[in-house]
Amino acid sequence: MANQTKFTFGLWTVGWLGADPFGSATRAVISIEETLENLKAVGAYGITAHDDDLFPFDSTEQQRRAAIERLKKGLEATGLKMPMLTTNLFSHPIFKDGAFTSNDREVRRFAIRKALRNLDLAHEMGAETFVMWGGREGAEYDCAKNVVDALARYREALNFLSSYVVEQGYNLRFALEPKPNEPRGDILLPTVGHALGFIETLDHPEMVGLNPEVGHEQMAGLNFVAGIAQALDAGKLFHIDLNGQKGIKYDQDLVFGHGDLANAFALVHLLEFGKDGKIAYQGPRHFDYKPSRTEDWTGVWESARANIRMYNLLHERAQAFESDPEVQALRKRSKLDQLAMPTLNKGETAKSIHESSEWFNFNPEKYFNGEGAGFVQLNQIAMEHLMGAR
Ligand code: GCO
Ligand code: MN
Ligand code: MN
Repeated sequence: MANQTKFTFGLWTVGWLGADPFGSATRAVISIEETLENLKAVGAYGITAHDDDLFPFDSTEQQRRAAIERLKKGLEATGLKMPMLTTNLFSHPIFKDGAFTSNDREVRRFAIRKALRNLDLAHEMGAETFVMWGGREGAEYDCAKNVVDALARYREALNFLSSYVVEQGYNLRFALEPKPNEPRGDILLPTVGHALGFIETLDHPEMVGLNPEVGHEQMAGLNFVAGIAQALDAGKLFHIDLNGQKGIKYDQDLVFGHGDLANAFALVHLLEFGKDGKIAYQGPRHFDYKPSRTEDWTGVWESARANIRMYNLLHERAQAFESDPEVQALRKRSKLDQLAMPTLNKGETAKSIHESSEWFNFNPEKYFNGEGAGFVQLNQIAMEHLMGAR
């Protein structure tokens, strides 16, 4: 079961050297070959990257090609895959006011060129998902960004890029990654729900889905599992960023499960057993975390391994919960079987409901001092499974 799961890591995750706004790097850079070998050793299926993780922003075409060939060799040597590629539209100073939604039209046109180039690379690398995290698409001052215009420009860019993928016949889908804030004071498409609404306004909604991140929804005080359920319901869970976050604060990027563990348990349960007890999400389990700046390289690989171990342990615990006969009985007591049933009978009409004798037979009295839902006991059993106490 668990060892067939495909785990992937962003190159920028283990490659983060520990520099933050308050201090410089605490680790020295290592080669791409060493990175790939170590990711293979911790049990990764593949890697993901931004264009700028592979070659610097100002690379010549020759340097760019050399870096790509070197990466391909490394992937071949390790057997690692690259199922997702994304574009860095946030590091360079030109993106200080955004990329596709910058007030500056020249910047917007540059951003489209950079993304187009990267779509070609994604196709070349055999990636199937193209993530779009619009970290700089936003504002600090309400008067300085016309959000309606900015959304129109976002839509324009996505429509253009989608039609390019169609024209080229690339096997690629876009996955928008919502985040409420950081680095911008407010980011456009701040949550799963905002992004789902926006996707329906696009020319090719079928090509655009989501890459929700655990910590991003939790930064907004939202329940990540509920957001993922809605994304699944909409058929829009194209990719996922797993990590850990403790409440409403800066983006912590902790190891998966090192933040809200109970919600992580519910998440793994939903992904692995959410479709009538079967797997609900088939894509890679992608970790977007940061090895803390306190760690040396040994600690980096330990933390990478910890992500996989946490997922596999939660998978095992969720399986135990799922197959516990007591849980089945408690679910019935909690009327989860009823929730799965349609509210109306086949062929019922407003008229037949009006005239139904149920109107007289329904007893509202029994809901006082009786008809308890038993939710707490069900949750207690879930927590006992999570803690390995069953
Ligand atoms: C963040 C984001 C990024 C994106 C990445 C891929 O908060 O910085 O999570 O790590 O996921 O840029 O698009
Ligand atoms: Mn993040
Ligand atoms: Mn992310």
